[in-house]
Amino acid sequence: MGSLANKVALVTGASRGIGRAIALKLGAEGAFVIVHYAAARDRAEAVVADIVAAGGAGCIAGADLTATDGVETLFAAIAAQLEPRGDPPIDILVNNAGIGMGRDLLSISPAEYDAVFALNVRAPLFVAQAAAQRMPEGGRIINISSVVGHMAFGGGFVAYGATKAALDYMSRSMAATLGPRGITVNSVAPGATATDFLGDAMQSEAFVASMAATTALRAVGQPGDIADVVAFLASPAARWVTGTRVVASGGTLL
Ligand SMILES: NC(=O)c1ccc[n+]([C@@H]2O[C@H](COP(=O)([O-])OP(=O)(O)OC[C@H]3O[C@@H](n4cnc5c(N)ncnc54)[C@H](OP(=O)(O)O)[C@@H]3O)[C@@H](O)[C@H]2O)c1
Repeated sequence: MGSLANKVALVTGASRGIGRAIALKLGAEGAFVIVHYAAARDRAEAVVADIVAAGGAGCIAGADLTATDGVETLFAAIAAQLEPRGDPPIDILVNNAGIGMGRDLLSISPAEYDAVFALNVRAPLFVAQAAAQRMPEGGRIINISSVVGHMAFGGGFVAYGATKAALDYMSRSMAATLGPRGITVNSVAPGATATDFLGDAMQSEAFVASMAATTALRAVGQPGDIADVVAFLASPAARWVTGTRVVASGGTLL
């Protein structure tokens, strides 16, 4: 039996990339996993099928988290899925859904700024607020931030980096609020990781090599590298870890 048996986990943006790997890992550890998606319903269903094929269980829940009523839509979908299962609490929330925004001071538009803050900052705050209402003692919130939140990288991520710094701040603040209820909150900060996130650039050997060269371990991360860290923070073994930021980047720019 895995370390997360009888737990319910919600992973946002779990249809692909890092979120998918986290969903598979938490499912393999025994959690019932709610696989959230925005548009890619088929992919989310495939993730649940993979969890089930590995002996686990889960369901999908769709919502555009940039929409004003996105969090309401998400929790209505979750309620519909969990009600037949006896309406269990949500033990683990992984706020993973996020978009990149490669713009510097001179090129970013107000609309781009609003879009990246809506998904990367407003959504995790209000998803956590809603999840906290049904999270028991021993609960876990894990926010996926980025090394970019604390590194300027030449100025090309003026808003994206700010969203991730904001998310790290929110992790500490949430940890203070929820600690008395026995709930831990932490950030996990990946470095460059092989997903759709970096677009076609990941198809370029030269780009991958240049990213790998920025790390001490001389590689680009794989989604599973991040999922293993999240699974630890979600497990009972991490009960004394809260309000912190774990960097999982192979040692970026040491
Ligand atoms: N990959 C990296 O190099 C890297 C590095 C550091 C940090 N991160 C962070 O890691 C997290 C996951 O990134 P990833 O690389 O796995 O990205 P990804 O492969 O692009 O996946 C993004 C996920 O977010 C969901 N999403 C997109 N727009 C959404 C919206 N409007 N509402 C709700 N969900 C939405 C997508 O759902 P659909 O599939 O349904 O569209 C998808 O599941 C992000 O927070 C990112 O900032 C990534």
